[in-house]
Amino acid sequence: MSDFEPKIVVFLCNWCSYAGADLAGVSRYQYPTNIRAVRVMCSTRISAHIVLELFKEGADGVMVSGCHIGDCHYINGNLFTKRRVKLADDLLKLTGVEPERLRLEWVSAAEGEKYSQVITSFVKKVKELGPSPVLKDPKLVTRLGAAVMAAKYFRSKTLTCKEVKLTAKGNVYEEVIGPKEYDLMIERAIEDEYQKSLILTLSSQEARSVIELAKEIGQPTDRILEYVVALRAKNMLALDRIEGTTPRYRATIGGA
Ligand code: FES
Repeated sequence: MSDFEPKIVVFLCNWCSYAGADLAGVSRYQYPTNIRAVRVMCSTRISAHIVLELFKEGADGVMVSGCHIGDCHYINGNLFTKRRVKLADDLLKLTGVEPERLRLEWVSAAEGEKYSQVITSFVKKVKELGPSPVLKDPKLVTRLGAAVMAAKYFRSKTLTCKEVKLTAKGNVYEEVIGPKEYDLMIERAIEDEYQKSLILTLSSQEARSVIELAKEIGQPTDRILEYVVALRAKNMLALDRIEGTTPRYRATIGGA
């Protein structure tokens, strides 16, 4: 039997989940000791890039836990948490790291038993998945670096923050966007930002051609060329040299 003991970071909001964890302790509910608990005032404090950075550093699992929807002490903070964790989850899938290593749980101050159950089940799941593959695979570190970069982009952050407004009140033309439409829009935007970040990260390591980038990223060359053109227009990517007839590009900003 494996003696693997996972390293798991659990973010707990001060007003509900942390109190729930406290109640679990006072009530003597048993749960595994693999977790490193971090108390934050509201679960919404945890941005997607923080979660992804933890995976990049080798965390085996990350959990974000807050008040139930409707109970957040900052009114609707946890609605933003939901979207931020979804953003981290979508990016994690793009990198190839198992998304089951990330979990979102709502635990109230009165749910000590539930707290012990969700921790027990999450630790069990991460044990089944085994140690994080990230630190043994430099490609995954590069991909997670690109995911961190993508999560920090203005477009990703804006779309994450505007969900409540755009799906409830509508845009400046008073057009309300349906939740499914919004999900699709955000998924496409995130994938774009991730691919562009990956191009920047790879070409900050060494000057690369479009064909090399396409092969490394696993995308068709015409798609990569579109991103290269867009990045060059923003002066984020520059022509480094031409080898034979092949242009090679280098990022003008540091990769992740
Ligand atoms: Fe608990 Fe916001 S205070 S999720």
